[in-house]
Amino acid sequence: MYFVISFTSLLVNLQNYYKSVNGNSIIILGIESSCDETAAAVFKGEKEAVSSGIILSNVIATQKVHEQYGGVVPELASRAHQQNIIPVVSEALKRAGIKKEALSAVAFTRGPGLLGSLLVGASFAKGFTLGLKIPLIDVNHLQGHVLSNFIDNRPGFPFLCLVVSGGHTQIALVKDYLGIEVIGQTLDDAAGEAFDKTAKILGLPYPGGPLVDKYAITGNPEAFRFPHPKIPGLDFSFSGLKTSVLYFVRDRMKEDENFIQKNLADICASVQKTIVDILIGKLAKAAAHYGIKEIAIAGGVAANSGLRKSLEETAKKSGWKIYIPEFRYCTDNAAMIAMAGYYKFLKGIVAEQTVAVSARM
Ligand code: KG4
Ligand code: ZN
Repeated sequence: MYFVISFTSLLVNLQNYYKSVNGNSIIILGIESSCDETAAAVFKGEKEAVSSGIILSNVIATQKVHEQYGGVVPELASRAHQQNIIPVVSEALKRAGIKKEALSAVAFTRGPGLLGSLLVGASFAKGFTLGLKIPLIDVNHLQGHVLSNFIDNRPGFPFLCLVVSGGHTQIALVKDYLGIEVIGQTLDDAAGEAFDKTAKILGLPYPGGPLVDKYAITGNPEAFRFPHPKIPGLDFSFSGLKTSVLYFVRDRMKEDENFIQKNLADICASVQKTIVDILIGKLAKAAAHYGIKEIAIAGGVAANSGLRKSLEETAKKSGWKIYIPEFRYCTDNAAMIAMAGYYKFLKGIVAEQTVAVSARM
């Protein structure tokens, strides 16, 4: 009798031990290093229920070194990533309250982005997974931005996602977590670049997008008119806008050298309105074409107050249900990479150690 009881309790203990080691959870470390942000995050999700999950930590080291150059300097970015990567990952694990041995897999950004920067994150992820004998998962940065919508929300499939950042402007048709099709994209500059280049012309520091947004709040968006590009289909172009802002400011300054100072808010509001109208115009065209009313946005420019306001107004008019990630998940972060890694892990899609980073994808 004693033998049976102790044998049963031994079995229960063994089961619990097995659960605590493997558990019902999947814990993914995400690493993002595609541009000038070194980021690491820990995501915990369930093995069975795709819908459940939680971000345990989300650490971002922003590289200040680029400010003085008015843009990201690739070589400086790689060096800063090398300095940041270990402290950032350590901090992410510490804040998540987990040991590295508890990780199920490591997901990293494979591209698109700056090659040297991507290499730092990829090399770290490879070494880490090799040491821990756990799977390595490669993630497309843009897929990460799209899936950032699942951190706090739950858009219904299919939905459209406008990804607007410093490097990208795309409309994605999202049929499933991993079934993402790009249906429109910029032919030249990204929307974030249009904001940043406008800011530079106006003498504002890099990255100027948030400052244009700030000054635009008190400005008149109808004060000045800038042309809309005539691009067919769902593609975008922003390089013409940058040039027209440049010529406009140059010409006005010939008449009044203080033109910028006197009209800063109005210029910012007018340029912002132009960018927002172009973005929302194409998004509305895509929504009508595909008959979709679930609309999400992502990427750094999703933080723009003018874009959010216009999206809300259009949603009311058109019956859209809109999804916008929390600000910290709009700009580059590793939580979205860990999240994307989780969906790939569930499907058993993992990478080989030989996987190469890619500047364009
Ligand atoms: O997604 P993100 O952090 O990095 C890239 O993948 O590029 O986006 C950064 C971009 C920059 O161009 C920045 O100026 C822009 O997002 N941005 C904004 C705002 N906040 C960030 N642009 C306009 N209004 C904002 N409030
Ligand atoms: Zn990004």
